[in-house]
Amino acid sequence: MALALYRKYRPKTFGEFLGQETNVAILKNAAKAGKIGHAYLFYGSRGTGKTTTARLIAKLLNCETRRTDPKFAAQGEPCNKCPSCVGIDTNSSLDVIEIDAASNRGIDEIRNLKENIRTSPAVSSYKVYIIDEVHMLTGAAFNALLKTLEEPPAHAVFVLATTEYDKLPATITSRTQRFLFKKLPKVKIAERISAIAKAEHIEISDEAVELVAAAAEGSVRDGISILDQIASGGKKVDLRTAEELTGRVGLQKVHELAERIMQNDLKGALAHISSLHEEGHNLVQLTKDLIHYLRKIASLAANPAVESAFHLELTKDEIARLTALARTADLQKTVRLLKSLIRGYGEMRYSPFAMIPLEIALIENLSEGG
Ligand SMILES: Nc1ncnc2c1ncn2[C@@H]1O[C@H](COP(=O)(O)OP(=O)(O)OP(=O)(O)O)[C@@H](O)[C@H]1O
Ligand SMILES: [Mg+2]
Ligand SMILES: [Zn+2]
Repeated sequence: MALALYRKYRPKTFGEFLGQETNVAILKNAAKAGKIGHAYLFYGSRGTGKTTTARLIAKLLNCETRRTDPKFAAQGEPCNKCPSCVGIDTNSSLDVIEIDAASNRGIDEIRNLKENIRTSPAVSSYKVYIIDEVHMLTGAAFNALLKTLEEPPAHAVFVLATTEYDKLPATITSRTQRFLFKKLPKVKIAERISAIAKAEHIEISDEAVELVAAAAEGSVRDGISILDQIASGGKKVDLRTAEELTGRVGLQKVHELAERIMQNDLKGALAHISSLHEEGHNLVQLTKDLIHYLRKIASLAANPAVESAFHLELTKDEIARLTALARTADLQKTVRLLKSLIRGYGEMRYSPFAMIPLEIALIENLSEGG
C-alpha cells in the first residue's frame, strides 16, 4: 500500500510547518540556544502538528550534524540527513520511544518505560519518550509517569501529547512546559492542499481545494486525507466530486442561498434548497454552513471592521461578496433568522424530515414583514 499522503508530507523542519507560530518560535529558539526542556505537553485539536513537533524535538536533540557543527546548530533545525534524523523519520531509532496510551491504557508501556529509562541511550545523546493520547493512561500509569517526571535521568526527555487537556491531572501538567496547538485557518490548509496536489500531479480545481480545506475543519491531516481519498479515483477532481465525497456544498452555493435570503426571496430560497436536496446534498451540513455564513453577515453588519478576522478563513473574493451582502442586511432580522435556523438545525439532526425545519425557519422569517 502506498504511504498515506499525510505521512509522506509530514513536515521535517519548522520551516515547512504551517501555523502554530508562537510554539514554533519558542521551540526553535530553545533549539538554537541548546536549551530544550525535559518535559513538554502538546495539547489541542487533532491533526494540527503535535506528533510532528514531538518528532522534530527528538530529531533536534539527537541530530549528529547539530552536535558536531555549532553553526548549523544555531539554525534551530534538524539536518534530516544524519543516521539519527533518518532513524527517527523511518521509525527505527532505538532512542525515540513512542507510546500510544490509547492502545491499552499504557500499563505495560509505563512499566517498561520505568525499566527502560534507567539505561543510557543506545547511540544518541537523549532518549525521547513521546506519549501520545496521554489522557488515556490509567491512574496507576499516571502515578508511575509522575514519579519519572519528578526525577527524570538527565538523558530523558518527555513529550506528552493529547487532544484532551482537561482530562490530565494537574500533578502531570504542572511538571511540563505546555503548548497549545490551534486549529489551522482554512486558507492555510488550502495552500498546503494545493501544494501537495501539485507535487502529486493531482488535478484539482480551486473550488474543490477550497471545499476540502473547509471540510478539514482546522485539521491539516484531515485536509490531506480527504485529498488522498478524493484523488484515489485517478480522475480530475472538480467541485462536484469534492462535494460528493465531503457531503458539503461549495461556499458558492451557500452564498447563493444567503443572497436569496437577504433579498427576502422566499420562493427563490426554497427552490434553491429543494434543488440541492434533489442533487443529494446533505441539508444538515448545509444548514450548519448557512448558519456560519449568516453569522458572519450579522457580524459585518454590526461592525464592518470585523472583516479582518475573516482573512484566514476566507479568500478576498469571498470577503468582498460577504461584505456586499452585509451592507444590505437588516441586523435584527438576520439575528432572528439565525435563532430560527439554530433551532431548526437542532431539530433536523434527529428528524426523518431534515428539510422541513430548514424550510420552516425560512418561511417564518422571510414571509412576514418582507
Ligand atoms: N501544523 C502543521 N503543518 C503542516 N502539516 C501538518 C501540521 N499539522 C498536521 N500536519 C499534517 O498532518 C499530519 C498529522 O499531524 P500530527 O500527527 O502532527 O497531528 P497531531 O496534532 O499529532 O494529531 P492527533 O491529535 O490526531 O494525534 C502530518 O503528517 C502532516 O502531514
Ligand atoms: Mg498525534
Ligand atoms: Zn541530523
